[in-house]
Amino acid sequence: MLPTAKIGPYTLPNPLIVAPMAGVTDRPFRLLCRRMGAGLAVSEMVIADSKMWHTRKSRSRLNHQGEPEPRSVQIAGGDPQMLAQAARMNAASGAQIIDINMGCPAKKVCNKAAGSALMKDEALVLQILKAVVAAVDIPVTLKMRTGWDEGHRNAPIIARMAEEAGIQALAIHGRTRTDKYTGNAEYDTIARVKSDVGIPVFANGDITSPEKARDVLQYTGADGLLIGRAAQGQPWIFREILHFLETGEHMKPPPLNEVETILSEHLLALHDFYGETMGVRIARKHVGWYLQSHDQDKRFRQSFNAIDNALEQHDSIQQYFASLRNEEVFAA
Ligand SMILES: Cc1cc2nc3c(=O)[nH]c(=O)nc-3n(C[C@H](O)[C@H](O)[C@H](O)COP(=O)(O)O)c2cc1C
Repeated sequence: MLPTAKIGPYTLPNPLIVAPMAGVTDRPFRLLCRRMGAGLAVSEMVIADSKMWHTRKSRSRLNHQGEPEPRSVQIAGGDPQMLAQAARMNAASGAQIIDINMGCPAKKVCNKAAGSALMKDEALVLQILKAVVAAVDIPVTLKMRTGWDEGHRNAPIIARMAEEAGIQALAIHGRTRTDKYTGNAEYDTIARVKSDVGIPVFANGDITSPEKARDVLQYTGADGLLIGRAAQGQPWIFREILHFLETGEHMKPPPLNEVETILSEHLLALHDFYGETMGVRIARKHVGWYLQSHDQDKRFRQSFNAIDNALEQHDSIQQYFASLRNEEVFAA
């Protein structure tokens, strides 16, 4: 049931990949997801323009210390030579796979005709693919959407172009650029691409449960899956899906104690990676995701968001979980 996923010379430990998410898939989150079962975690995009690389944000994105192999780094931009240069620089600083972003609808990226906006200009896409593949001797992969809009689902055309240009794997989000994140992902275009090309194809979009993972794999024939938003606040989703695909049985959700340990360690890693001021800020959104299903009236999260130092954040999480455990005792 579990497909074997390969990218160039790398055989992934399993076919579940953490989808790149700017502002989310930083090194602490990637390491955590790998520990929780993901077979690969693609880093956040690095803007191709190297003039931006001195910023603190870019520097943190270029940090891959301690990450298990293979390390895949996403690049974004609209200029073939700039992207080629970005690929070379990332390969030199430890990337083992370069992923080109043609999947992101963000204005910041699309206004400069990058991300999914590129899909409108197939000639430019071809130039970019060829330039990046020629620039490095490591595998280059492409992440895209199904097309520009409903009337222009050109992922199959770009997929064939990509295969000819030497791209080694494709990830396809089952939405068009104009869909943004609305409506449901469709998997017909992904299935079509999979049947058209010989390189590995990874399906992406709305994979939120073990059953959905099984169904999308079966329906599309894909070699693996990319999982994004469903991993926010529940990085254990990877081991749960793996367990289900391997055994057909559901793994029990993690007990409170384990959720507390995972969350506390995640906070510690964020504080350590970003430093206290930024780490405390970034921790808030992760805590928001982890506690979505617990703290339904958001009272705890409101008070947590007012905390401005690392130690207090830790103490407050400890107290919160202690009170949840007390409630469990009383409810029993
Ligand atoms: C906060 C956020 C940031 C994202 N950033 C990127 C990005 O930098 N590069 C990219 O290719 N896709 C990006 N995406 C898209 C995801 O990789 C993925 O394609 C999309 O979320 C659909 O998968 P999902 O339904 O599993 O979340 C982002 C998505 C989110 C929610």
